Amino acid sequence: MMAFNRSFLSLFALVSLLTNISSTLAFPSYSSLAGLSEREVEELVARLPQVLPPNPPGPLEFNGTKLVNDRDHPWKPLQKGDIRGPCPGLNTLASHGYLPRDGVATPTQIIQAVQEGFNMDSGTARFVTYAAHLVDGNLVTDLLSIGGKTKKTGADPPPPAIVGGLNTHSVFEGDSSMTRGDDFFGDNHSFNQTLFDQFVDYSNRFGGGFYNLTVAAELRHRRIEESIATNPQFDFTSPRFFTAFAESTFPYTFFVDGRISDRTSAGLDMPNATLFFRDSKFPNDFWRPPAPTGGTGALEIFSAYPIAAGRNINGVNTFTPDPTSADFSNICLLYTNFVNRTVKGLYPDPKGVLRRNLIINLGYFYDAFGAADTCPEQFPYGTL
Ligand code: HEM
Repeated sequence: MMAFNRSFLSLFALVSLLTNISSTLAFPSYSSLAGLSEREVEELVARLPQVLPPNPPGPLEFNGTKLVNDRDHPWKPLQKGDIRGPCPGLNTLASHGYLPRDGVATPTQIIQAVQEGFNMDSGTARFVTYAAHLVDGNLVTDLLSIGGKTKKTGADPPPPAIVGGLNTHSVFEGDSSMTRGDDFFGDNHSFNQTLFDQFVDYSNRFGGGFYNLTVAAELRHRRIEESIATNPQFDFTSPRFFTAFAESTFPYTFFVDGRISDRTSAGLDMPNATLFFRDSKFPNDFWRPPAPTGGTGALEIFSAYPIAAGRNINGVNTFTPDPTSADFSNICLLYTNFVNRTVKGLYPDPKGVLRRNLIINLGYFYDAFGAADTCPEQFPYGTL
């Protein structure tokens, strides 16, 4: 009996070792290491290319408007294994080759692409990109995927730990998006025709067929009300509280041709909205904004229907403010909570190259935040 137990145990150990090895062999180099055990991280780090995160790229040299749907950046249909996700801006950049077409990129490539393709200003580009990379990227290989599907290099379907990228719910991606459903309903990243029909309806009713600042305020309010009433797990705390209002400004900021004046009130027409949101495609002869911008109007959109940061705490229609969340009255908390709660929650006790790269990326993120006078830098993993 003893002998049987011993051989059973060693067989068990062998099987679990092999399972472990095969799941780490199938692990794509762009998947986040968050949530893995110390042993899994150790095994993976030994096999992955260990990259020292380079300094972020600087602002554009020529930062005026120009044709961006040009001959060097043709739209191409997806190839098998290409990844797209919840962000219509990054999807479009990948489908036109401003980003690697497979949807896997370094932070440097993303910052360069959003500047070059959409004239996003350097500070916003760096802030958003390092935020996303810290929570959704692979901090050892310095790669981030703009969506969640993995290349079919191994197990199919992949084990839960290796799906993610920007689709990962609640650390960056969040609820009440304009054209994507809430995670609770099963798909937080694909273009949702029903929600897009509502986008069009609101643009017709409040903007004469164009998505502008007025429409943005109405639609943002509507999507929040919808989530409160239908999603028992609706969460509208920071960082989602901020990204939701910011993203509402993006369509009239970035998707309107740069040669049009007063683009915030002129707004985005529906044929072009369809191209960006559904098809990841620039309109023909599309020019980027005339000057670097991060989008304007988030505070106006918030002020039209002010709401406290909070969540449904006990099923639908139980929205309750969370006073510990950052909001527009405490922007510093956006940074400190993100670092000390969100990132630290994902990586409680990182070691070696993972710790080093966390420290470096947190430094780039803080520099991009640009509030050194009022908001002291946080060092949850010490310094190098
Ligand atoms: C700088 C790097 C960027 C990153 C890491 C990023 C990431 C994301 C993510 C994760 C979402 C999903 C949030 C959600 O709705 O739950 C999102 C949404 C969105 N992004 Fe981006 N984004 C970036 C730049 C841009 C740019 C340059 C544009 C416009 C040209 C853009 C336009 C949008 C829009 C309009 C949405 C809202 C989609 C909706 O609500 O249906 N993003 N982005």
